[in-house]
Amino acid sequence: MTRTPQAAAEEAAAELRSRTGVDAYDVALVMGSGWASAADLLGDSGQELPTTDLPGFVPPAVEGHSGTVRSIRAGDRSLLAFLGRTHLYEGHGTDAVVHGVRTAVAAGATTVVLTNAAGGINPAYAVGSPVLIADHLNMTARSPLTGATFVDLTETYTPALRELARSVDPSLPEGVYAAMPGPHFETPAEIRMLSAMGADLVGMSTVLEAIAARAAGARVLGLSLVTNVAAGLTGANLDHEDVLATGRDAAATVGRLLADITAKL
Ligand code: HPA
Repeated sequence: MTRTPQAAAEEAAAELRSRTGVDAYDVALVMGSGWASAADLLGDSGQELPTTDLPGFVPPAVEGHSGTVRSIRAGDRSLLAFLGRTHLYEGHGTDAVVHGVRTAVAAGATTVVLTNAAGGINPAYAVGSPVLIADHLNMTARSPLTGATFVDLTETYTPALRELARSVDPSLPEGVYAAMPGPHFETPAEIRMLSAMGADLVGMSTVLEAIAARAAGARVLGLSLVTNVAAGLTGANLDHEDVLATGRDAAATVGRLLADITAKL
């Protein structure tokens, strides 16, 4: 019989425990494009390993996604930060995309913080600013779940955690994140469609991880960094390099915000 995704996550969690010496994590964070350096501000860094040292992880494919996992001590709590993630467009399937989240929950994490870079559809968002994810549109037509797993997604992004984030920064806007399969950026017509459907942000990650985290019983907080205005809304073309550069420029600001929020989780 082939191993279940849960068994694979437990195996990775056991290896993680033995490599880091941490028995149980409290909070897991997935650092998307533009967020990785924020990990330095979260607390005292312990062990950091390539994720591929743990069973079930695939090598990183994208520039700006380093593919390591870092153990961090913040006060009396243990944090697990994934520096980089696996995207659906890498072609390894949904289990590979959510293996980090499942591993973190198997290692004890009850709160999962998902960060990403996103295109801004809502004209109120400034490039370089963080936005709280209030809800999502899963446009990947995929789910990390199989079988009769009818998970309630009414409150995918835990309201109490959003409130807590806004207590750190009351000016933090909230929005609906639409996840497209990628790896290409959207057409202007697709952005008009997403806008009509109620999306404020567009990206290529996060939603499958949020679903897997909810299915595993964890609380979820989602944060996007607006790295560009979505396609067709200005005269400009989109470029992955610009997305990364905006991320680098905003690193200190979003890092501080994330560290302040994490301290209260
Ligand atoms: N579209 C999709 N994904 C993204 C974007 C975008 O405009 N910006 C950063 N990630």
